[in-house]
Amino acid sequence: MSAEKIPVGVLISGRGSNLQALIDASFAESFPARIALVISNVEGAYGLVRARTAGIPTRVIPHKDADGKAKPREAFDAELDAALREAGVKIVCLAGFMRILSDGFARAWEGRLLNIHPSLLPAYKGTQVHERVIAAGEKQSGASVHFVVPELDAGPVITSATVPVLAADTPDTLAARVLEAEHRLYPTALRLVCEGRVRLANGAAIFP
Ligand code: GRF
Repeated sequence: MSAEKIPVGVLISGRGSNLQALIDASFAESFPARIALVISNVEGAYGLVRARTAGIPTRVIPHKDADGKAKPREAFDAELDAALREAGVKIVCLAGFMRILSDGFARAWEGRLLNIHPSLLPAYKGTQVHERVIAAGEKQSGASVHFVVPELDAGPVITSATVPVLAADTPDTLAARVLEAEHRLYPTALRLVCEGRVRLANGAAIFP
């Protein structure tokens, strides 16, 4: 059964709780994907420990060269691309990956590149999401999984989950509630893509 699973690569920079959710889901026999490779641009990312514990191959590809200078974006992305292809990866999930990918990379993986964002996209793209949601007095927030397109956080949404914003919420308490929803959402979205129940066509998410 597992031989038929679609090989997925996960790109991380940090704690990797969404990676863990994907790993846990992938262990179910009926889940259509297996995590074939985890790449981190940060050597000490805890997500690497999670992957190794699960017996998943890992690569560290720093976005800086030996002198501490940031590599040109295209060069860094070419290293990512080569590692993913070498591992036979067919779908890439960004899971707390803190680098902006080049247009070329996004185009090369178009329709096969997913990201999770802690807001109800298209609202609250970018960073400091929970601070802004609370400051705006929103009553609801949530998380979205979307196809990645060159423009940041602008790709078509595959699926989203809503959580309440409570009067006493701080950015941290809201983030924790959203994160719990993320952990259910990302495996659901990956399953939809793997099973061909959603695809990217002409810049839109199509549910055939
Ligand atoms: C999540 O909130 C995700 O939505 C955002 O970065 C965070 C990553 O958390 N893109 P983790 O590393 O998966 O725990």
